Amino acid sequence: MTESKHVCPWWLCFTFDNPLRRLIHNPEAILGPYVRPGDRVIDVGAGMGYFSIPLARLVGGTGQVTAVDLQPQMLSALVKRARRLGVAERITTHLATPDSLGRQAPADFILAFWMVHEVPDQRAFLTEILQMLKPAGRFLLVEPKIHVSGKNFLRTLETAKEVGFLLRESPKIRWSHSALLGGN
Ligand SMILES: C[S@@+](CC[C@H](N)C(=O)[O-])C[C@H]1O[C@@H](n2cnc3c(N)ncnc32)[C@H](O)[C@@H]1O
Repeated sequence: MTESKHVCPWWLCFTFDNPLRRLIHNPEAILGPYVRPGDRVIDVGAGMGYFSIPLARLVGGTGQVTAVDLQPQMLSALVKRARRLGVAERITTHLATPDSLGRQAPADFILAFWMVHEVPDQRAFLTEILQMLKPAGRFLLVEPKIHVSGKNFLRTLETAKEVGFLLRESPKIRWSHSALLGGN
């Protein structure tokens, strides 16, 4: 196993999942340009589903969302919320290990929001993400400026390019460094 990194504890992630956050991170505005009805989407480091639930609405009844996280408490809270909000049948969950996201069906869109800095081996992680993406698929990588310097974000982007990603766009997302990536 690779060196472990600090992972946002499940009890603290309640702070990531409150209505005030919508003022800064409106999920529909951030994700709407990239997700279509019927898409297959993966939310990596989904936490309690702040983005997974809007993703389930965007993909509609014919789409599917896989929410992946390391912490079972996150995933069980996510499932409860999805049931309450009537989108549980569009979301499957997968418990990852720090070293592997596990085998996933190819996706049209993958989101990793404020989580990559917690991953111990970014090269292995990005390689796995690229393998999970359909040839025309897109990967939205968003990192928090509070934890990740511009220099470190550029380093992550360099690694992404080395494993085979191309930078397609640099969307503006508040308090964040962000990149929309695709395969070659
Ligand atoms: C800061 S939270 C962000 C949650 C969510 N993306 C959001 O923006 O509300 C980071 C999440 O990534 C998860 N995580 C960290 N490393 C991971 C890994 N290697 N594989 C899957 N999930 C991971 C943590 O358990 C935590 O739920």
